[in-house]
Amino acid sequence: MTAPHETGTAPEREMADVVRSIRDTVKRHSSRFERSIPLIASENLLSPYAKELLISDFHSRYAEGLPGERYYEGNEQVDEVERTCLDLAKRLFRCSFADVRPISGTVANLAVLKALAEPGDLVGTSRLANGAHISSASFGAFGMRGVKPVYYAWDAERMTIDVPRTREILLAVRPKLCLFGLSLFLFPMPVAELAPTMEQIGARGWYDAAHVLGLIAGGEFQDPLHEGCVVLSASTHKTLPGPQHGLILGNAPDPELDKRLQSAAFPGVTSNHHLHTMAALAVSFAEHLAFGREYARQTVANARALGQALHERGFDVLAPELGFTRSHTVAVRVANEGGGEAAARRLAEAGIITNKNLLPGDTSPKHPQGVRLGTPEVTRVGMREREMARIAELFDDLLHRQRPAAEVSSAAAELKSGFTGLKYCFGAGEAAYRFYDLVGHEP
Ligand SMILES: Cc1ncc(COP(=O)(O)O)c(C=O)c1O
Repeated sequence: MTAPHETGTAPEREMADVVRSIRDTVKRHSSRFERSIPLIASENLLSPYAKELLISDFHSRYAEGLPGERYYEGNEQVDEVERTCLDLAKRLFRCSFADVRPISGTVANLAVLKALAEPGDLVGTSRLANGAHISSASFGAFGMRGVKPVYYAWDAERMTIDVPRTREILLAVRPKLCLFGLSLFLFPMPVAELAPTMEQIGARGWYDAAHVLGLIAGGEFQDPLHEGCVVLSASTHKTLPGPQHGLILGNAPDPELDKRLQSAAFPGVTSNHHLHTMAALAVSFAEHLAFGREYARQTVANARALGQALHERGFDVLAPELGFTRSHTVAVRVANEGGGEAAARRLAEAGIITNKNLLPGDTSPKHPQGVRLGTPEVTRVGMREREMARIAELFDDLLHRQRPAAEVSSAAAELKSGFTGLKYCFGAGEAAYRFYDLVGHEP
């Protein structure tokens, strides 16, 4: 095949340059991550069997509606895979209802709001500064649906909802829906403790499991659909190491509610539902049923070990009396290390990828005093407690001992060089950061 850069027209040659440059940039990104210590709590790596479906023909198709009731022809194989995906979801979470059509966690949240609330309704939730997702904000999904937040009381020491004070708020204000779930999610939420109050005021419980989905499935966190929530929404690519997608689960013996959730998913908030990612999700569910318990256990063990090691090196890790975390996430107040923004930037220069994060008590949303650290990805490539201690040492070298970023970056790359293959999936050992070169040559 002749490439445009040899014989093509001027626009073809120009655009071939653009395509080459995009490919090069993505390849550079992949090798950068291969050398780095990625600690973003909301990120993970896809298994090879899930990844190959992202470039399958499912990507090119439309399937509106439910399996067996589609608006387009040609969907028999899509139906088969989607039925499998739904069955696996229900088995993994031991629940009666699943919808795998929302294409992200935010879209799943919009669908739940559409199904269970009307504009003007009151919905219980947590404040952004206490770790809630922007879905709960007036400029996010809550605002789009026109619902009004009722904020729970917060226990900043224990980094969870203050149950007695929240009971009083719920009884006084009587929201229609109570949302549990966070983006800075260290400890389980008191769903079971608040369930009798929700029942008393006729409010439904809704759990946003975007961050902790893989931990719930792996039996390492709470089990909200069996503690008092009737619906759960999530994204599927954080502690559940699946594709970028969304999910709604339910466990109410209420077919009317299931139907409302289904019609909120389609035609409410989706048209097509990204069939290639749905197929990859089915594979990720199967792999989580096979390997998820061990993966979830190690992810939490690593987060606790990281918190402990940072604490021992003088970092202000939140919730020391509670073992720092029960999830995949650790929160560190870095006011003494220059604040969240400066610390996260300096860590990134040294090959350690984190994010600045608001913490309870922060006075300015523009100047977060924390960094959020997560162990889903480093666990996925096989790191364990020993490596968490080494990561804490790198933090200490960089942020306390002022060792140059270039030196810490080399040390981080050396540590990572032993951990570049995937674990806890079929095809384990496959290169985690591989660039799939389908074409075999440059344009
Ligand atoms: C609690 C919570 N809900 C929802 C979302 C949104 O998920 P997505 O990025 O898939 O839209 C996030 C994302 O980080 C989250 O933390």
